[in-house]
Amino acid sequence: DTVDWEPEAAGKSGYPHFMLKEIHEQPESLRQTIHGRIETFAGHVSLEEFDDASFADVERVQFVSMGTSHHASMYAAAQLTARGLTANAYMAGEYADCPAPIDENTLVVAVTQSGETADTMNAVRRARDAGARTLAVTNVVGSSVTRECDESLFIRAGPEIGVAATKTFSSQVVALTLLGERIAEDSTGVQRAEVRDLLSGLGDLPGDVQQVLDETPAAEVAEALYNCDAYFFLGRGPARAVALEGALKFKEISYEHAEGFAASELKHGPLALVTDNTPVFGVITGEEDLKTISNLKEVQARGAPVIVVAPESLEGQVEFADYFLPIPDTHPEVAGVLANIQLQLVSYHAADQLGRPIDKPRNLAKSVTVE
Ligand code: G6P
Repeated sequence: DTVDWEPEAAGKSGYPHFMLKEIHEQPESLRQTIHGRIETFAGHVSLEEFDDASFADVERVQFVSMGTSHHASMYAAAQLTARGLTANAYMAGEYADCPAPIDENTLVVAVTQSGETADTMNAVRRARDAGARTLAVTNVVGSSVTRECDESLFIRAGPEIGVAATKTFSSQVVALTLLGERIAEDSTGVQRAEVRDLLSGLGDLPGDVQQVLDETPAAEVAEALYNCDAYFFLGRGPARAVALEGALKFKEISYEHAEGFAASELKHGPLALVTDNTPVFGVITGEEDLKTISNLKEVQARGAPVIVVAPESLEGQVEFADYFLPIPDTHPEVAGVLANIQLQLVSYHAADQLGRPIDKPRNLAKSVTVE
């Protein structure tokens, strides 16, 4: 039927798995996501989907989403909070049963790759019934979510076949970053110079992703560590969302136990799980989250192998790490996308070492259309 031929039609272009193909498509898919949307010199985001000053009244943003889309939403909520808005990322399945308070200045943003996830659709309906303005951020034109929401913004990542979301996470983060800038510009106001820095980082992103893909040591890291008891991922701020996504990807396709934590949470429980057989990945996006280093030194003192993902210019400060996955230096809000791609590659290669069916992990579906 119609579902079965799609993967064959798309083709793996010589890659052993769709997941690896889609990871390597990211320079191009990100180019599509930002195409025509950034005016770097003016420090302005231009989204033709929305009128001028369309978000002037927005005071609160509530993201509703599941899985990888939820992690992209957490990343976006951290960015918006830093811009002075009240922003929260809700797991849609929780929100649908117990929606957060909504008023006329609340914007509910449904983030869903497929546009069909049942929990996310239910959350949208609850928000709409309560009178909220609803906006879909999705990859699929004509999907259910675009029909239920007042407005839509497309991430333009192209079709994704692998069950584990990869290129769509990157495009979601970038599309949400652009949307967040527009919301901030219309509502709280922005500093053009700061926006210019961010947009120039976004403009460089496709090339920076290519550099990560060309130079990554992820396969060697995976080969050294794929046979351990459990895997932990730490980060703070937007890097926490990347840590959670890194752990989700790892468990989905390798079937190994993997968990992501806020770096600050480490001493409040997770540290009890750390041994010399539990590698710990630390995600660092810039000077802002260097504090994570002290958490990583703590787990290393308990014998855990430490893998740091960080901008290459910080190499001197992370020399203590057992493994280093460098990313090009860029704006810290863009660095998370690059760090996540290093983690996608580690997960892929670990799952490959373990002989897992990478594109179709057991028990999981690309799109979950039942509650
Ligand atoms: C499933 C998929 C995940 C995806 C999640 C949300 O769990 O396996 O990859 O992140 O659904 O899907 P959505 O289409 O709403 O982004």
